[in-house]
Amino acid sequence: MEKEEIQALIRQAFQARTFAYTPYSHFRVGAALLARNGKVYTGCNIENAGYTPTNCAERTALFKAVSEGERHFTAIAIVGSMEGEVNRLVTGPCGVCRQALYEFTGPDLTVIMARTEEDYIVTTLGALLPYGFGPANLEADDSQSPT
Ligand code: THU
Repeated sequence: MEKEEIQALIRQAFQARTFAYTPYSHFRVGAALLARNGKVYTGCNIENAGYTPTNCAERTALFKAVSEGERHFTAIAIVGSMEGEVNRLVTGPCGVCRQALYEFTGPDLTVIMARTEEDYIVTTLGALLPYGFGPANLEADDSQSPT
């Protein structure tokens, strides 16, 4: 990815973070998911008094996209920090979100963990979730069929 493209995605993740609903953890996260067609879907974390229903920024972005018919993605940028704190590098997505994303992208998704538009790590979902379990695992395994 071009640097400008990465930075634009990071900027959109920061914008999404302004909507984070975090009365419990006060940890505010924003994500921007780039679809293959160039469209960007953003998300923030949305917490809940019941704690368990909390949705991470990454899954918010993914579910927004999929619910609008999008299934092909190339990159995701993630930013986060505690309320009132200088930005920190969040090593997201969390395990649950890695799995949720893997369903649609497999290992090839580019993952950008950013502290600022200038300070970020670029990796892949395959590096973050090696030997990922995906749709292919539920296909018929012909090698096991009786001869
Ligand atoms: N969170 C995210 O939204 N994304 C991550 O990658 C890490 C964790 C949220 C969940 C919860 O609202 C808060 O951050 C603290 O875990």
